[in-house]
Amino acid sequence: MPTIAPSVLSCDFANVQRDVEMINNSNADWFHIDVMDGVFVPNISFGFPVLKAINKHARKPLDCHLMIENPDQYVAEFAKCGAAILTVHFEACTHLHRTIQLIKSNGMKAGVALNPHTSVDVLKTIIEDVDLVLIMSVNPGFGGQKFIANAIDKVQETRNLIDASKSKAVIEVDGGVNLETGQLLINAGADALVAGSFVFGSQNPSQTISDLKQLSVG
Ligand code: DX5
Ligand code: ZN
Repeated sequence: MPTIAPSVLSCDFANVQRDVEMINNSNADWFHIDVMDGVFVPNISFGFPVLKAINKHARKPLDCHLMIENPDQYVAEFAKCGAAILTVHFEACTHLHRTIQLIKSNGMKAGVALNPHTSVDVLKTIIEDVDLVLIMSVNPGFGGQKFIANAIDKVQETRNLIDASKSKAVIEVDGGVNLETGQLLINAGADALVAGSFVFGSQNPSQTISDLKQLSVG
């Protein structure tokens, strides 16, 4: 069964506690937390006060996706705020190896995210150091965008890279995930699916999470 990480970016922020409890009581595995700085991406989401509020109620791991420049300076604070997984963008890290080690030394799992235009080839020299690879299937910055299909081949390439190495990295995909695109991604070798608007825009978000959880290779 795939790991399902509902993206809190699409929740109702006037009712954060209610939506966090919905995820707690659902078949979801992680909380996906999107942090945007208005520099790396053309949008600003939320920062530490909101993360702390979510962490107060969340009973599942916080999977934090940083869409920010210079993430190193905030790594320790994310650990304090309860992040279990901290994912940085390849495109935002000049010294990616150092950043990954810093995340691990702060007691978190370390992930690296690739924008839609970034080739999986760049992972060759870092794959054995990371716990998670996040393949972006939209250009980061906004929920509710259309799925970019090159993610499917990229998942397959990442799977091949991991299988040919000593890496135990998990492959997560983020952007435009629904039951149809989710199925294609699972078939290509994805382990974890992020879903924002598909979950929170549905009639019954908890049921939608269960439906995603039921996907299997086929
Ligand atoms: C986009 C974010 C995503 C977003 C996904 O920059 O990284 O996590 O919330 O939203 P949907 O599932 O609506 O594409
Ligand atoms: Zn995300």
